Amino acid sequence: MTEPRVRDLVEADLPWMAQVERVIFADAAWSEGLIREDWRYGTCRYRLIEADGAPAGYAVYGYDGDVFHLMNLAIVPGQRGRGLAKALMTEFVAEAVRHKAPDAWLEVAVNNEEALGLYGRLGFETVRTRRKYYQPGGIDALVMRKDLNPYTPDLPYAEEP
Ligand SMILES: CC(C)(COP(=O)(O)OP(=O)(O)OC[C@H]1O[C@@H](n2cnc3c(N)ncnc32)[C@H](O)[C@@H]1OP(=O)(O)O)[C@@H](O)C(=O)NCCC(=O)NCCS
Repeated sequence: MTEPRVRDLVEADLPWMAQVERVIFADAAWSEGLIREDWRYGTCRYRLIEADGAPAGYAVYGYDGDVFHLMNLAIVPGQRGRGLAKALMTEFVAEAVRHKAPDAWLEVAVNNEEALGLYGRLGFETVRTRRKYYQPGGIDALVMRKDLNPYTPDLPYAEEP
């Protein structure tokens, strides 16, 4: 078993990503056309994680307006539970920090227990609910935020005379 490796998706990975989308998200999948257009547009990072020498998942993130946002995240079913999503999420948060974003944002379906477990573990907190956000199922989404500049009143002033 080799160490997982994170890299940018290249054009040759896009059909694979579209196929994984169909398997995982069914009616709500991003189409290959949408993926190609967005990937070419180039404003989002498309990051792929390889495990055992093969693509195992991806994350898409970047600015949505003035908000640093996770757009997509998936790990293929056979590779779950070994920390691959956590590795991609750690990169997402690190990139938000590099951009000096005050916080990082995402949406998650209220019934997605695996993802809720992941985001909660990484310090994301629910801000509000968006009703019927996921179509065609009409599932509510939780809007979650991770504060990247927590207010720490003791730190800067503690050393002052
Ligand atoms: C959600 C998803 C990305 C998690 O991927 P993963 O690689 O299995 O997750 P990891 O192994 O990195 O797990 C990291 C943390 O997530 C949480 N988690 C993972 N699987 C979980 C489960 N079945 N139940 C509850 N929490 C879970 C745990 O807190 C875990 O940390 P721990 O192992 O230290 O306790 C994966 O299940 C997936 O692709 N689901 C379908 C697509 C999806 O829902 N994407 C998110 C859209 S918002």
